[in-house]
Amino acid sequence: MAKLSKRLNIILEALEPRDNLYDICCDHGELGIAAANRSLAKNIYLIDQVESIIESLKIKLKATDIPNGVAIIPICEDASKIPKKVSNSNLVLAGIGENTAIEILEKYEVDQTCEIVLCIHSDNFLLRKFLIENGLKTVDESIF
Ligand SMILES: C[S@@+](CC[C@H](N)C(=O)[O-])C[C@H]1O[C@@H](n2cnc3c(N)ncnc32)[C@H](O)[C@@H]1O
Repeated sequence: MAKLSKRLNIILEALEPRDNLYDICCDHGELGIAAANRSLAKNIYLIDQVESIIESLKIKLKATDIPNGVAIIPICEDASKIPKKVSNSNLVLAGIGENTAIEILEKYEVDQTCEIVLCIHSDNFLLRKFLIENGLKTVDESIF
């Protein structure tokens, strides 16, 4: 298994076990696979809008040992276009800009059993404003 970067490791350590993990904009899928190895969720959705990324992930997953009781589900979709209602879930949005993150979060209806882990590569003033306006509270922050 590929060694996680310091950034992805901080995200991994922030995840508490929940039924579902949505790694949205997953690209290489390393975070979701590491989370699967720790059995941090029963269902791990790896979502990216680029078809070739999802096809490569499917091949990688065939060659990867996943613990019993964990399913990894790769999905090719533009996450800013598909509404989802989620419960008992971790959502991870990492390695994208704040406008993309906001567009995607607008489509995800979460309840109080969910946690969202954000690692945004741009300024995040608008994202913080969006989170506050939508009643989402900050639990923890890391600087690295
Ligand atoms: C830089 S990678 C981040 C990979 C990983 N999350 C990380 O932090 O290392 C950004 C990925 O986001 C995907 N992406 C961007 N906008 C998206 C959207 N609206 N829906 C799904 N995937 C998206 C891109 O295809 C790309 O693979």
